Amino acid sequence: MPTVTFQRENKVVTVEEGENLRYVAMEHGISVYCHIFNLTNCHGNGLCGSDKVQITPSNVVSPRTSLENFHLKKRPDLRLSCQVVIHGDCTVVTQCGKK
Ligand code: FES
Repeated sequence: MPTVTFQRENKVVTVEEGENLRYVAMEHGISVYCHIFNLTNCHGNGLCGSDKVQITPSNVVSPRTSLENFHLKKRPDLRLSCQVVIHGDCTVVTQCGKK
């Protein structure tokens, strides 16, 4: 079972292979949103582009989707957590998480 380390929140969680990153974060009380987007987001539909995270290594999660390519044209280093399926151990840096 993969391990996901949320770096800013200093939290390590074990997940099932194939779980969605946004749901994993929510299940463990970690917000992937900044500011007002905690209230106004698209609930994981890939439309708002507000749940940006950095994931390393990038090859243990699902490839970028077309929605991510649209929202993150200028940020190849980021992902939208709602679009990410976890397949292996990784470290996640939320953009507005606790430092
Ligand atoms: S929650 Fe809106 S794009 Fe991911």
